[in-house]
Amino acid sequence: MNYLEIAEQAAREAGVVLLENLGKVKEIEFKAKNSLVTEVDKLSEEIIINKIKKSFPSHDIFAEESGRDSEDSDHLWLIDPIDGTTNYAHAYPFFSISIALEVNGVVEVGLVYDPVKDEMFTAELAKGAYLNNKPIEVSKSYAIEHSHVCTGFMHEIEWMVEANIKHFGNFIRRARAVRRDGSAALDVCYVACGRFDGFWELGLNPWDTAAAVLILKEAGGHITTFSGGEYSIYMKEILASNSIVHDQMIEILALED
Ligand code: IPD
Ligand code: CA
Ligand code: CA
Repeated sequence: MNYLEIAEQAAREAGVVLLENLGKVKEIEFKAKNSLVTEVDKLSEEIIINKIKKSFPSHDIFAEESGRDSEDSDHLWLIDPIDGTTNYAHAYPFFSISIALEVNGVVEVGLVYDPVKDEMFTAELAKGAYLNNKPIEVSKSYAIEHSHVCTGFMHEIEWMVEANIKHFGNFIRRARAVRRDGSAALDVCYVACGRFDGFWELGLNPWDTAAAVLILKEAGGHITTFSGGEYSIYMKEILASNSIVHDQMIEILALED
């Protein structure tokens, strides 16, 4: 079985557990004031790691809750067992599982799974992007005034809070509508399939973005830093769009107030 097939099996197995436990979370721990982790995050991560390790024992794993297991392999799996834990903990049905495989520093496989809607977003490098096995592509929206955009807020770092409020205000004034859905991986996949025209966020981690970024690129989208610079999943700012409204989003992010 190939990498993507194993990742899909792992995500579906973990997805069943997420649905079974939705609305029944008992233990919430705090990594920081508003950074939650539930027993289901840990269970989901264990299921995914076990599945991958069974198929590819020599590969490295970098998962949100358990960290990096070793640095021996040129194959690295990046795993977010629940992207949108705050939503999950409040039984708000918008969250996902994100699994990506990086080979020699290049993400070659990406999968984001929404178990609530049973939507599986997938991509392999240079092979296109898919939603439930059907090809997807970004929207053709050409003006920010007609665009449906999304963001996320990191609320632990004060300068980021201030920047988020400023950017949010500037987009509210110019875009058709602004959303804050709470699962960065799914938000970027929504740009990939045309439900959103753009997305921006500060402070994300590689396990949030690795899979979705490949999916968006394969769907024809564009990803940079806020000022249009080259993006890497190891950076702390992401601007993702349908390509066409990208420059307009850069201009809005650069506004002073
Ligand atoms: C979070 C979600 C959220 C984003 C946060 C992330 P988590 O991931 O992606 O949308 O705004 O910055 O940390 O903690 O639920 O895996
Ligand atoms: Ca996450
Ligand atoms: Ca998570």
